[in-house]
Amino acid sequence: QKDEIILALETSCDETAAAIVKGGNQLLSNVVATQMEIHQKFGGVVPEIASRHHIEQITLVIDQALEEANLTINEVDAIAVTEGPGLVGALLVGVNAAKTLAYAHGIPLIGVHHIAGHIYANRLEKEFQFPLLSLVVSGGHTELIYMKEHGDYEVIGETRDDAAGEAYDKVAKALNLPYPGGPVIDQIAHEGNDIYDFPRSWLEPGSYDFSFSGLKTAVINKLHQLKQKGEEFRIEDIAASFQASVVDVLVEKTYRATEELGVNQLIVAGGVSANKGLRVELEKRFNEMDVELMIPPLYLCTDNAAMIGAAASIQYHNQNYKDLSLNANPGLIL
Ligand code: KG4
Ligand code: ZN
Repeated sequence: QKDEIILALETSCDETAAAIVKGGNQLLSNVVATQMEIHQKFGGVVPEIASRHHIEQITLVIDQALEEANLTINEVDAIAVTEGPGLVGALLVGVNAAKTLAYAHGIPLIGVHHIAGHIYANRLEKEFQFPLLSLVVSGGHTELIYMKEHGDYEVIGETRDDAAGEAYDKVAKALNLPYPGGPVIDQIAHEGNDIYDFPRSWLEPGSYDFSFSGLKTAVINKLHQLKQKGEEFRIEDIAASFQASVVDVLVEKTYRATEELGVNQLIVAGGVSANKGLRVELEKRFNEMDVELMIPPLYLCTDNAAMIGAAASIQYHNQNYKDLSLNANPGLIL
């Protein structure tokens, strides 16, 4: 059986992306047109503007992905696309482009869950060893997902309010730092010290759920308090203290879950997995464990279409196809 060639599209937020993935784990091309600078002016993603830019970019990134892979559309076996979750207007651009290509060329159409994509980004680096646990931390999600086999996702914990990346972005805004906040806070945190002892939200004993809105509020209150009293402070120390709290909770809960579930691998995914503080602490913690730690390279952590193609490969082999009634689903469940 020959390795299938999948053309994958991802337009759920502010990156217009297309990639070619062969056999589920060979990345032939990976094109990402980011709109980050455009949204930076507004301090966050503006949905209407995102949709408009996706429309301008989508055919360009598709052509480039094919060209870089040295392929024509006739050599593609299936089209995959993120169907949700995400911004509905943004998702629609990818979904309609995918439906058009699948229909015009008479090839299967595969709808992929964005989080399944983030998890499968890791498979472009190394084969999965089940059972495994995945920590998905992004701007929209903070989830612990247990997997017994390919395509089987059991959410054992999730955030009850803000996602980890969202907390980074909101704290950055309060500190007058540019969007997206994660990378900047991560960077300055390393020049500061954890002196503010912000709360850690452990929730009920045994719970694998997360909560970051209390921490966000504590940081904002502290800032007001410091400013009101006219006390001197360094935003580096605020960033370091905030990051210490986030990383503490993420690492501790993840560690406990891997022990309790007896998994072979821990897979870290999503934009926040680019965080240096988180990477260092996870490496320390999992160094002497029997659990293999997998963190994808930076270009596979943030949104891209390669991960969508990798996840779609499993669906391709199960003939889990969609027909042309496929619609964008902003609230899609994993
Ligand atoms: O996965 P992603 O690109 O898009 C979503 O699906 O949300 O994640 C984006 C999020 C943003 O909130 C951004 O601030 C955060 O990931 N992020 C980081 C870092 N790099 C990106 N957060 C913490 N540390 C970083 N180094
Ligand atoms: Zn994402």
